[in-house]
Amino acid sequence: MTTDFLFIVFIALLAGQSIVLHGKHPGNQHISSPQPEQIHISRTGDQSEMMVTWTTLLRPNNSFVEFGVSGGLMNTKVPAKISRYVTCGKAKRVIYIHKVKLTGLLPSTSYDYHCGGDDGWSAIYSFSTTKQDSHWSPSFAVYGDLGVINAQSLAPLQKEVQNGRYDAILHVGKHIHRTIHLQDNSRVGDAFMNQIETMAAYVPYMVSPGNHEHHCNFSNYRRRFSMPGNNSGIFYSWNIGPVHIISFSTEVYYFLKYGLQQIINQYEWLKKDLEEANLPENRAKRPWIITMGHRPMYCSNVVGDDCQNFENKVRIGITSLKLFPLEKLFYENGVDLEIWAHEHSYERLFPVYNHTVYNGSIKHPYTNPRAPVHIITGSAGCKYCHDKFKRKNAKWTAFRTLDYGYTRMKVYNKTHLHLEQVSIDKNYTVVDQVMIIKNQHGPEAWKWKQPEPPPQRQKRPKVEKLRTSKKSPFDELAGAKNILNDYIKQMKSYKSAYL
Ligand SMILES: *[C@@H]1O[C@H](CO)[C@@H](O)[C@H](O)[C@H]1NC(C)=O
Ligand SMILES: *[C@@H]1O[C@H](CO)[C@@H](O)[C@H](O)[C@H]1NC(C)=O
Ligand SMILES: *[C@@H]1O[C@H](CO)[C@@H](O)[C@H](O)[C@H]1NC(C)=O
Ligand SMILES: *[C@@H]1O[C@H](CO)[C@@H](O)[C@H](O)[C@H]1NC(C)=O
Ligand SMILES: *[C@@H]1O[C@H](CO)[C@@H](O)[C@H](O)[C@H]1NC(C)=O
Ligand SMILES: *[C@@H]1O[C@H](CO)[C@@H](O)[C@H](O)[C@H]1NC(C)=O
Ligand SMILES: *[C@@H]1O[C@H](CO)[C@@H](O)[C@H](O)[C@H]1NC(C)=O
Repeated sequence: MTTDFLFIVFIALLAGQSIVLHGKHPGNQHISSPQPEQIHISRTGDQSEMMVTWTTLLRPNNSFVEFGVSGGLMNTKVPAKISRYVTCGKAKRVIYIHKVKLTGLLPSTSYDYHCGGDDGWSAIYSFSTTKQDSHWSPSFAVYGDLGVINAQSLAPLQKEVQNGRYDAILHVGKHIHRTIHLQDNSRVGDAFMNQIETMAAYVPYMVSPGNHEHHCNFSNYRRRFSMPGNNSGIFYSWNIGPVHIISFSTEVYYFLKYGLQQIINQYEWLKKDLEEANLPENRAKRPWIITMGHRPMYCSNVVGDDCQNFENKVRIGITSLKLFPLEKLFYENGVDLEIWAHEHSYERLFPVYNHTVYNGSIKHPYTNPRAPVHIITGSAGCKYCHDKFKRKNAKWTAFRTLDYGYTRMKVYNKTHLHLEQVSIDKNYTVVDQVMIIKNQHGPEAWKWKQPEPPPQRQKRPKVEKLRTSKKSPFDELAGAKNILNDYIKQMKSYKSAYL
């Protein structure tokens, strides 16, 4: 028995996986096979498509996806593009990545599929397409920092995904665990991808790059996942229901050794993408803009991360010239929600911009917030996964917990978005929840005020004020008229946007 094999057993035991799984998916060089493994699906930019990606450790003679509407025959056969991937690490181990884009899918339809060919087929999996329009309520599982070892949230997530609770999973960076990543020649990558197959073969698994994926210029990340667009998944956006989701790399701000050009490319792309998402017809259809990136702009942990710095790179940009600042860009484009991870904890922030809290109102901070809302959800479970908090809350901290867990997000409609945090430590109960309510989206929303009720003639105090006022009754009348006009205008724009 080689040490490699013992190692896989060790990982399997720690991850709560059965050895049988790894027998089926041999991660060992000496028992490589062309059997499909690490099967996962992802959204493309087109709602009538689905991307299927998998791995084999040997090159099979041929490779396909066969699929069909659930319950019928899987009689549509699409050949895969096979690419040879020389993994990161000393051994230069070779694996094969297979990709198939399924096209022409019907909306709201369940499909069965399997992948493989003459050398072996996978089990049968199924997925459902969503509605094409924006009048429905997508549900997401959201988390970062889920590893092979100590994957605390894995079991409940597997169950919820397989019970059809989610339309997509958002994994906000850090997919594999640090030190052994290189030493084992990307076998932990294989183990991780096999571990998430139990979820990712059923619902689109949408990812952002995290710091642990940096080896060999993020090659494991870029090769193993198939995200929309043509930037190797480093930055991309996609639409689902009333939501436009943007994923980007905070890591381009930290791994400058891979090139400054990447920051520029990403920033220019973000600007363009946000501009397009803000075109009136687009924003009316998909008013929610959500970003996901690994390292947060704010955090109240004590781990020596950049987010502890008042002026951190992601928030205010790089160099003394503060180039490519993201907080300003997102604020000015009316991003509603910013999802982060990296800190191994959960933290919900009050609406915040430039370290200032902009509650909708003190009583209802998340009703018509006047700045983006941030959450940090990096406690899904990985090795070294319990960070600490500073003793005192920052004024933008609304809630925080070190419990292991993950976030559920449901976007009810154009005005209501719900977030809740599940705690593994507290027996899978919900320990935090919030409804973000927005009657208006876009940068104008930061100034939006609930329309005042129309002035009512029978209200006494108004009349008294008129009498005691030093201004002439004509000024008062003009003022009242302006208020009324404003109110009518607001109601009109509200009506045209939402009713
Ligand atoms: C795959 O190709 C090899 C070499 O051409 C051949 O020996 C083998 O039988 C083929 N396997 C199958 C399942 O067709
Ligand atoms: C791919 O990149 C080219 C420019 O290099 C761009 O014109 C094209 O729209 C991109 N395609 C997608 C799907 O983003
Ligand atoms: C790293 O990869 C990116 C593509 O994601 C590429 O643009 C860049 O040039 C690469 N950097 C190096 C140093 O190879
Ligand atoms: C943010 O606040 C600081 C003071 O804390 C101020 O110097 C700076 O100009 C502000 N930046 C923006 C973009 O408002
Ligand atoms: C924001 O709202 C919270 C909760 O109501 C309140 O505790 C806090 O003081 C508010 N902050 C500001 C700056 O209004
Ligand atoms: C949006 O969803 C919320 C929460 O379910 C609901 O209270 C509200 O009535 C919905 N609004 C519309 C216009 O359907
Ligand atoms: C945890 O929750 C389940 C049901 O949700 C309950 O049956 C069980 O007793 C709970 N365990 C503890 C320790 O509270």
